[in-house]
Amino acid sequence: MSRRLLITGGAGFIGSNFVHHWCQNYPSERVVVLDALTYAGNIANLAGLEKQDNFRFVQGNICDRSLLNQLLETENIDTIAHFAAESHVDRSILGPGAFVETNVVGTYTLLEAFRQHWQTNSLPTNYRFLHVSTDEVYGSLNPNDPPFSETTPYSPNSPYSASKAGSDHLVHAYHHTYGLPTIITNCSNNYGPYQFPEKLIPLICINTLIGKRLPVYGDGKNVRDWLYVGDHCSALDVVIHRGIPGETYNIGGNNEVENINLVQMLCQLMDELAPNLPVRPAANLITFVKDRLGHDRRYAIDATKIQTQLGWTPSVTVAEGLRLTVAWYLTHENWWKPLLSQEYQAYYQKNYVF
Ligand code: NAD
Ligand code: DAU
Repeated sequence: MSRRLLITGGAGFIGSNFVHHWCQNYPSERVVVLDALTYAGNIANLAGLEKQDNFRFVQGNICDRSLLNQLLETENIDTIAHFAAESHVDRSILGPGAFVETNVVGTYTLLEAFRQHWQTNSLPTNYRFLHVSTDEVYGSLNPNDPPFSETTPYSPNSPYSASKAGSDHLVHAYHHTYGLPTIITNCSNNYGPYQFPEKLIPLICINTLIGKRLPVYGDGKNVRDWLYVGDHCSALDVVIHRGIPGETYNIGGNNEVENINLVQMLCQLMDELAPNLPVRPAANLITFVKDRLGHDRRYAIDATKIQTQLGWTPSVTVAEGLRLTVAWYLTHENWWKPLLSQEYQAYYQKNYVF
């Protein structure tokens, strides 16, 4: 069955990787990207696709109901892959309002538009609303706790994760109440090409290349479960094709790493792969800084359900994925340099206490 996709947030990090994945694997299927191009959205992430007849980019906001109605109808959309969000925890601490607006109100607006479209077209069974969410909705784990499963109670701690939890609840409610064919995925930390410089892994790569200090929050022993973005995209592909409406699937790499160890691995890769580092060894730049407010200690995902029920497994190890990622930032200075804008510098000054 050929699908017609609306991909929200498709000019961001994971969204753009997913757009490339879909266009490569299903070149005859319609792909419409809707993205507001906030500071995190970048049309350069979609370079090359504008030449394809089946691809269309629309700059617009998921809170704009009339635009949504028009796109769903004129493009005859049957599948929404919803990535659009404010996504950075530190920015949610500095200014939560945009997170409530996009993540909660935006998701609600998209659900309402899709519900109307689905009902107007007599409730087709092939329609899907894939809501791309995060493991952060489950809160923080202690060292010996079992990883998050789909039945772990929600306990979000940051304005970001609370706004994502709110959106997850709305998506669930639209399935339960109206029967809208929604599916939720909750994924662990992604990394790879096109990730905005504010996030830990690109920040370490870029700061090393320009000889800036490498800020590590608190004692550096917070744990994240890292997944290469290409593996996240293949999981979402499987969920769209084989996932059951009304279900939630956790996605993770089974790769728990303490932040300080991750930063040291990145520094070693930089020492090995970058010819002209301003400071060598790169680890000399590591600086412990004031902790993030309310910093969650540990995340870990139990991905048994998607593995056993849908047959998905990740294919890239952390060692391979970090090497690929460091190599990408090394060879894509033209991509990341323009992102170190005045706005980014102002955010950086506000966020970090060295
Ligand atoms: P990102 O910040 O890189 O991209 C978000 C995109 O959404 C940007 O292109 C931005 O312009 C767009 N956008 C923001 N507000 C919008 C609005 N109101 N209307 C239309 N477009 C808007 O985010 P990301 O890291 O690619 O994350 C994508 C999704 O995946 C998010 O929903 C996030 O919660 C979820 N997620 C991220 C991770 C991760 O590790 N990055 C892990 C699990 C889940
Ligand atoms: O778990 C999934 C989530 O992963 C996604 O839902 C979010 O959208 C995404 O931003 C990410 O959230 P984190 O807060 O875990 O990612 P971040 O890259 O900001 O930080 C990773 C870890 O590194 C975290 O423990 C905080 C720490 N950190 C981060 C930065 C930016 C530092 O020590 N120093 C830093 O400068």
